[in-house]
Amino acid sequence: MSTDSSKEALYAASATPKYKKVRRVTPAESPVTPVDKTPDPELGHAPIAKERYTSAQFMQLEWERMWTKVWLLGGWERDLAEPGDYVATHLGKESVLIVRQRDGSLKAFYNVCLHRGNRLRPEGTGSGDSFKCQYHHWEYDLDGSFLRIPDLDTFVQGPPPCKGIRSLPCEAWGGFVWFSLNPEAGPLSEYLDPVDKHLAPYNFAKMAMTRDITVEWDCNWKASVDAFNESYHVQGIHPQLMWYLHDLDLQIDTYERHNRYLIPFGTLSPRVRKPNTIPDPIKVIMKAAGMDPADYDEPIENIRRDVQKWKRKHGAAQGKDYSGLNDDQLTDDYHYLIFPNVTLNTHADDLMLFRQRPHETDPNRMYYDIWTFELIADGAPWPDRPRHQHVQHGDKSIGLVLDQDAHNLPGVQAGMHSAGFDGLWLGQQELRIRHFHKVLDDYLAGGPTAQT
Ligand code: FES
Ligand SMILES: [Fe+2]
Repeated sequence: MSTDSSKEALYAASATPKYKKVRRVTPAESPVTPVDKTPDPELGHAPIAKERYTSAQFMQLEWERMWTKVWLLGGWERDLAEPGDYVATHLGKESVLIVRQRDGSLKAFYNVCLHRGNRLRPEGTGSGDSFKCQYHHWEYDLDGSFLRIPDLDTFVQGPPPCKGIRSLPCEAWGGFVWFSLNPEAGPLSEYLDPVDKHLAPYNFAKMAMTRDITVEWDCNWKASVDAFNESYHVQGIHPQLMWYLHDLDLQIDTYERHNRYLIPFGTLSPRVRKPNTIPDPIKVIMKAAGMDPADYDEPIENIRRDVQKWKRKHGAAQGKDYSGLNDDQLTDDYHYLIFPNVTLNTHADDLMLFRQRPHETDPNRMYYDIWTFELIADGAPWPDRPRHQHVQHGDKSIGLVLDQDAHNLPGVQAGMHSAGFDGLWLGQQELRIRHFHKVLDDYLAGGPTAQT
């Protein structure tokens, strides 16, 4: 679980809980209004084998049967606004170039020169009229076709028989560009279903990027996915959030590939005693909506609903279109995993997106991308796009909550190698993790899900 970095001050304000915790004795019903609840799948209770996180053989199997079959997030579509704009993104041992074409369409290619295998572009975004390899200057047009091969007459065999760099499936959705390493991939909308329908009302296209950071983490990519797919750890490593959100008995929904849970924000965890005053983090939510906490004299448990009503009433005047969102979506975190590696903390006014990428060769390492976005009110100026930062695990704070999430991961990965540990012992609060492994198993087995 995580929260928007732009609100770090909010969480820092309550980093040391001032109030008392209570022991949970009975299940506490979530204040969420159930919406399209799926029945919990029958996935058993067996431990999840630790080798899935540590084994180079398993990593190779994942590559062959999963990473090269699924649709994957490639970049932010606004980085590809004009013809010639491109993003180069690495995934494991591959790198992919996604390019805006002169006719406005998008194309994706393996980011590799057909002469001697040089990477055409380093990771990142850029723009140009063509792609000239820096080694011997073979040059490719925006559509990947050969433009120029110096001294072509010295190649007795002629140029490579293909027309240019090899293309890959590529589509846009939700303000993002997606690609697949599977030439036979079906339509992206089929793959994303039903998440694309659920998230359509959020207007991601009206959100500006506010952070773009890659952190090299010392753990398997799945350990990071797991860290954001359960609320059980809130009481363990994010104690301050218990005066901000409801972490128990969440609605969990599992789909063919993807899953989600719904976390009420702006309320108290049932694990804590009700304080006499409004906790500071909840005041921040009220102020962001335009409410004055000093004027509020209702019980704390009414705040969440009142914030929802306030935003419903005043959103349009604030230049924000909430018309497609239900009431809970005005306060809560609708938290999705798009299989295999995209975590979305979706809120009415912002989006916090994480992309978990495997290391090229080492199952004990990964790349963790943080992209955050803020809804820009109609008529308000857009901030400049943030510069991309690439840092190592622990080198730099990525905000209190994410630092808390990151802190354990090297220890978890080291512990997975211990003879004293057999595998993950998951509870019902961790159902999304079990579902994630089930979907992964479907791909490894080459089952029906793996066909698109
Ligand atoms: S490797 Fe690209 S031109 Fe030689
Ligand atoms: Fe967390």
